[in-house]
Amino acid sequence: MQCPSCGEGALAGQFCDKCGVSLDRLCMSCTTANRPDARFCAQCGQAFAASQPLPEAPAPAQQKQVTILFADICGSTEIVASMDAEDASLALGGVLHVISTAVRRFGGVVNQRMGDGVMVLFGAPVAAEDHAARACFAALAHLADVGGMGSRALPVRVGICSGPVILRRTGRDEGDYEVAGVTAHIAARLEQRADSGAILIAPQTLNLVIGIAQTEPLGPVMLKGLAGPLEVHRLLGARDQPSWAVRSSTRSLSPFVNRSTELAQVRAALHQAAGGRSQAVAVVGDAGMGKSRLVHEVLDALPPGEWRVLRIETTAQSMAVPYLLVTATLRQVVGCTPDDTLADVAAHLPPALAALGFDPLGDLSPLMLHLGQDDAAPDAGTPDAHRTALVRVLAPVLRRYAGLHPVILLVEDFHWLDASSADLLDALRQELDGARLLLLLTTRPERRPGWGEADGAGTGGDTCVIDLAPLTAAHSDAMLGGLVGVGTDLAPLRALVTARAGGTPFFLEEFAHSLREQGTLAEGAPSLQDIDIPASVQGILAARIDRLPLLHRHVLQTAAVVGREVPWALLAAVADLPAAALADALAALRAGRFLAGLAAPGGTVHSFSHALTQAVAYDTLLRSDRRVLHGRVLRALEAPGPAHADSSVDELAHHAASAEAWPEAARYAMAAGERASRRSAPTEAKLYLKAAIAALDRQPTTPETITRGIDARLALRGVSASLTDAAGLQDLLQATLAEAGHLAEQAGDRVVLARVYVSRGAMLSTWGDLPGAIELSRTALAMMRAGGDRPGTVGAAFALVQAHWYAGDLDGARQVLANNIGIARSPEGQRRSSATFVLPAIGFLCYAGRINAEVGQHDEGRSILAEARSLALSAGSAFDQVLVDLNQGAAWLAAGKTAQAIEVLEHTLHFARANTMEFHVPSIASLLGGAWIDTGRTIEARELLEEASALADRNRLVAKRLLCSPPLIRALAAAPHHDLPAARALADRTLHDATLRGFHPVVRQTRAALAEIDALRAAPA
Ligand SMILES: Nc1ncnc2c1ncn2[C@@H]1O[C@H](COP(=O)(O)OP(=O)(O)OP(=O)(O)O)[C@@H](O)[C@H]1O
Ligand SMILES: [Mg+2]
Repeated sequence: MQCPSCGEGALAGQFCDKCGVSLDRLCMSCTTANRPDARFCAQCGQAFAASQPLPEAPAPAQQKQVTILFADICGSTEIVASMDAEDASLALGGVLHVISTAVRRFGGVVNQRMGDGVMVLFGAPVAAEDHAARACFAALAHLADVGGMGSRALPVRVGICSGPVILRRTGRDEGDYEVAGVTAHIAARLEQRADSGAILIAPQTLNLVIGIAQTEPLGPVMLKGLAGPLEVHRLLGARDQPSWAVRSSTRSLSPFVNRSTELAQVRAALHQAAGGRSQAVAVVGDAGMGKSRLVHEVLDALPPGEWRVLRIETTAQSMAVPYLLVTATLRQVVGCTPDDTLADVAAHLPPALAALGFDPLGDLSPLMLHLGQDDAAPDAGTPDAHRTALVRVLAPVLRRYAGLHPVILLVEDFHWLDASSADLLDALRQELDGARLLLLLTTRPERRPGWGEADGAGTGGDTCVIDLAPLTAAHSDAMLGGLVGVGTDLAPLRALVTARAGGTPFFLEEFAHSLREQGTLAEGAPSLQDIDIPASVQGILAARIDRLPLLHRHVLQTAAVVGREVPWALLAAVADLPAAALADALAALRAGRFLAGLAAPGGTVHSFSHALTQAVAYDTLLRSDRRVLHGRVLRALEAPGPAHADSSVDELAHHAASAEAWPEAARYAMAAGERASRRSAPTEAKLYLKAAIAALDRQPTTPETITRGIDARLALRGVSASLTDAAGLQDLLQATLAEAGHLAEQAGDRVVLARVYVSRGAMLSTWGDLPGAIELSRTALAMMRAGGDRPGTVGAAFALVQAHWYAGDLDGARQVLANNIGIARSPEGQRRSSATFVLPAIGFLCYAGRINAEVGQHDEGRSILAEARSLALSAGSAFDQVLVDLNQGAAWLAAGKTAQAIEVLEHTLHFARANTMEFHVPSIASLLGGAWIDTGRTIEARELLEEASALADRNRLVAKRLLCSPPLIRALAAAPHHDLPAARALADRTLHDATLRGFHPVVRQTRAALAEIDALRAAPA
């Protein structure tokens, strides 16, 4: 064939040996560089079209993880100024040509060519998981190559940065991409900072080349346009290393988990091989699944000296090295090290063969050809003939070698072994039947060994394929325990990481590592949201996704927008493709194990086999594209009607927000928030309500958005009150209510303003400000009655009664109850209102029942509480039910029925705890603690009351803490504690606080407790 540039002779290599033009044909499926006239990819078998197919329309922009390299000639202005224009152009052009040629050797794509420099992409347009390492090798290589130009050399400097970029195709050439993003900016700035001959790398790159690159830190550097300093390193050297060598040398290994079956399979094969039945075992699994670890667990446990291990280790770079198998095997058979040259190996070969009993003068030419001794070797002939020749020489050598001691021929990362070596290996295996040899491969599913294809998996005679499955959740948790800690406080974090990593050990390690790096673990309370996907993990997954044909990638990305579970009908509605094309794409994605299909009543549901694949596929879309796709999903979900909408309101809220369809986002988030709070899931409710507020804030201000904004804030106040997440709660509530009040004033709506007052009034009681609570609730009650708002009236009355009750003004409370009980019993009055978290009529009736009981009207009290209970059962939430039960307990106590009270209160306490309704715990404890003391259970009472007081203190629930104090004083003073000083100290504090705040019943109860202490002291021991 001819070089397309200079028209010269037939060539088999990747570069024209006449003009240096790159001749390779890059496979768009697996990135392998092939001969320019290849019809099929030598690596993956993909057929090349007459000219490589490019999409008709420019491909949409993509977000990708890449490494960007900037190189330029230092002082080019002076060079140009000091030379004739033509000479200067030739000089600069010569150096840039050498740079471009060198970077292409490592898969770099020259994206921009300036007069005195280049910008090069690694990992794009086709992703490569080792993009950062490639950029480092390329930088070192081109500096060396330029250095080798002698008098034509010019000083060069380089900057490298890895990270996300937005890539938009602008033409049909491989370099025709517009690149945007801060990654390119940093690389360019680093280059400008570099001294002549220096390569500066960003920390994002360094992280990806640990164990491969040698660097020196230059400390923090401020770069123009960046907010903070960057820890910059200078690249000194790099060594291509197999992934296992990097992983096992840079960090200590995690404790080994599971895999006992697989270990046993490999050991059984070893046993057979040792007995002279040659075996072949392939360990197949996705990147990071633990193939190498499994193999090394076996090797490390071998009895010393019994086996010889020949290691053939590959890297992504070695795909382009033909017959690596031959050189790597010979190097070890003759006893040379990786640092010895091929000439050394060639020199050692004849004596080594003689030692094995071969005639040293036999024909070694097929081997010598690969040891750089071309002169001694005749032409290799056709590939088939050459392979046959190699087998003829190598097989007897290996057989004799294995005759001395059993041999393990370990081929690590077989998927990266060059195609000629892979063929040779298969031929050798068949030839070496009966040798004491175990051929052990590790490989990713994209290239299974020849013997694995027929049966796919399992064991067949002397060959066996072990498919490594993901770790189970339990094993993942055990492994993570060793990495982040086994504490129960970390269990939620471990569960989250386990779910994200999907059973891939490497991903588990990388997540743990990045959490440690971010300092998240040291802070003790890791945030479960937004755990970033480590760049290393992203790189591996993005590379897999990028190898998909365009159409399949599009379907995968669309599916990622739909969700982890992808119903066929929804995908079909969104993907905008003919059904047959979609079905084909899904079949291919299933075959590639990106998706798994599950038959379901409404058609097949696909789900992402790996949560991370979904996340990474999603990340490759631009925000604008995601928005459009989310919008389509939203419309599709809305189409079937309201019944459907209600069942998936969470989904609708998610898609509407991601589509930036703010009115819908606010509506669905509000509905999802209310649903969550009805289901007593306050944490979720809070998130949705905040989302609703954010969505409302993005809309123009209208009376409607204002009213909705208030409702959302009041509802948020309600769920926050049921949460006890301590820090900042009170501030949050105060701020929320202040905002709501401000909005209500802005809207000029008195009923709406009154709702805010009710809400605030109820909170003020709890925070211990009774005069404030009474004033605000009373005003609100008048406003509500005037405005004819029935649920609002009931809510305001409830808030006012509560404040009176805390103050011990039972007459005042009864007056308000009597005036409003009719409204509280009317259907209209029993509707929910956003002003209070409990259904207002339930709160109202609870107080009515309890106060009746407390003034001795037990029958009346019992019947009103029964009313409250039936309302709670028909319309209330779990939160409302707890409120009824706790007041029922109070009523039993008022009636002197301690046993009944204890029963209902114990049950309620358990229920409130189990449903994380800690808000109610202090109220329950104050009643139950007193009842336990009365029945001699002082130890339990003290424990419970101390816990409840601490909880109330933590959340600044002053009123509730005061309720707990009198019984706690009693518990401290009683047997077996007799802790009188503590009891007195607490009594003093309580008296002071309760008197100041006007909590008269607490003052009375504290005095009674003190009298009890005095009586105790007076009593004879
Ligand atoms: N069973 C296991 N128990 C504990 N750690 C494991 C286990 N399997 C793998 N690991 C750890 O996970 C990481 C990835 O494993 P390994 O390098 O063996 O993956 P691999 O399948 O060979 O990946 P690649 O395809 O990239 O070569 C390693 O650090 C390894 O120590
Ligand atoms: Mg490996």
